[in-house]
Amino acid sequence: MPFFSTLSLVALALAVVFGVVVNRRHRRDSLPRPPGPKGLPVIGNLFDIPKTNSWLTYEEWARTYGDIMSVEVFGQVIVILQSPKAVRDLLEKRGTIYSDRPSLPFFEMAQWGWFLPTSRFDDQWRACRRLLDRSLRPSATVQYRPTIRAKTVKCLQRMLTQPNDYRAHIEQLQSAINMSVAYGYDVKENDDPFVETGREFVRMIQETALPGALLVNDLPFLRNLPDWFPGTGFKQLAKLSRKLGEEVVAGPLGFVKDAMANGTAQPSLALDDLRECTSEKGERDISLALGSLHAAGSDSMVAVLTSFLLILVLFPSVQEKAQAELDAVTGGTRLPEFADRPALPYVDALCKEVLRWRMISPLAFPHSATEDDVYEGYLIPKGSYILANSWSLLHDPATYPEPHAFKPERFLSPDGHVIDDPGLNAAFGFGKRICPGRHLVDSKLFIAVALVLSTFTVGKAKDAKGNEIPVPGTFSGPLVSQPDAFACSIVPRSQAAVELISAPVE
Ligand code: HEM
Repeated sequence: MPFFSTLSLVALALAVVFGVVVNRRHRRDSLPRPPGPKGLPVIGNLFDIPKTNSWLTYEEWARTYGDIMSVEVFGQVIVILQSPKAVRDLLEKRGTIYSDRPSLPFFEMAQWGWFLPTSRFDDQWRACRRLLDRSLRPSATVQYRPTIRAKTVKCLQRMLTQPNDYRAHIEQLQSAINMSVAYGYDVKENDDPFVETGREFVRMIQETALPGALLVNDLPFLRNLPDWFPGTGFKQLAKLSRKLGEEVVAGPLGFVKDAMANGTAQPSLALDDLRECTSEKGERDISLALGSLHAAGSDSMVAVLTSFLLILVLFPSVQEKAQAELDAVTGGTRLPEFADRPALPYVDALCKEVLRWRMISPLAFPHSATEDDVYEGYLIPKGSYILANSWSLLHDPATYPEPHAFKPERFLSPDGHVIDDPGLNAAFGFGKRICPGRHLVDSKLFIAVALVLSTFTVGKAKDAKGNEIPVPGTFSGPLVSQPDAFACSIVPRSQAAVELISAPVE
């Protein structure tokens, strides 16, 4: 009897547990997915999602479907989050489930898993992310401010002589800062091999990640076809891409190791990290983390600084107000410094508004769910892509009245102090994948804005007949949204400004 009753109890317990699990599973499976527009068979919502400015369409849809919606394309579920609460609840509070990235077959073939923005949520990502978070925390980036300022002044010198090439100068500036901070490496004026390789790598990522760019990303079984099979050119491309990635990672670190051996290494993140490193695995992590920094850190900053110039063309009164504040602090007799920042609240607020107004990553980067999850009664299946609509968050009229107006004043208190707005972090993404470069951006952006405004006036360019050339003021771009090409005039404010810019910089 006791034996029988023990067996019965075990059986009963198993039945209950099994029943609960099955029941839960059943309940889960019968839960609806977040609502969204009804799609067509097989292709789903392929034709509902616009190729450009999709964040505006999602904002529109949210009026019908609410703060959490979903669409499907060829069976891939895409969940779109529209409110700060949904973003906080999922990407931040449940970060262990929602911090993966979508896996693209071509990226796997090219072995690009090391590149942080696209890497899976795995131990390699954790090791590199730890290194970057430590190296790029606010207290650590302060030591790079003199370098950032000196390189920015050099950029102004180039603007002075060739103002029409402003975009090339901004690109050069970002490469110069990143390579100096990461590796203590001084980039060449033209055709620098490390810079060229980094740019080529980012271009490859952008081109091959685009939906429809490579069939193998939509039909992964194609990767198993033999190399001689017609239409498998992507295999050769993957081999070349893998080599390119390796060059991004190994080239500049090799430079630092040589410089360390020769005793010529300059202060840099690589130098700090390598000095502490005791293992081969540790050295590999450093090379991957810094390779990610140098490849990921340029394009977005170029987009932000070109938007800044566009803003000066479009809103002359903003420019005048910021220049008046700067003149009151420097007297026009010296260039601004980082230490002036507390006395420049309008300039500081302007930087925040530049990040918000026409943000360059309106949908952050896609996250991906590693488990089935239930939220507000909806099932979010494992493998769903999660898009957080940062654009909606930063253009919500309840938080940012007149959201489409460019108004630095929204970040100033009535007594003129800068308002610290944690919501603005949405410009840098969310949760565990939030941009690790955001504190460096804060320094780079402030000093570039202060230096440009104190020395130049930016306005509409004129054609040969003296007529103003219209500025489109539009933005586009596959992964990073940036201003479409525009002509502008960049003119020194005075002879004193010319002399200040031209003085030698350390
Ligand atoms: C204004 C300039 C920048 C903006 C607006 C920006 C924005 C972003 C966004 C939206 C993400 C994705 C976050 C997410 O998935 O939720 C990201 C990721 C990343 N950013 Fe930035 N970024 C900027 C500059 C930089 C700079 C200067 C660096 C390097 C120093 C950098 C390095 C990275 C890296 C490595 C990642 C990948 C992080 C990960 O997936 O764990 N970014 N950034």
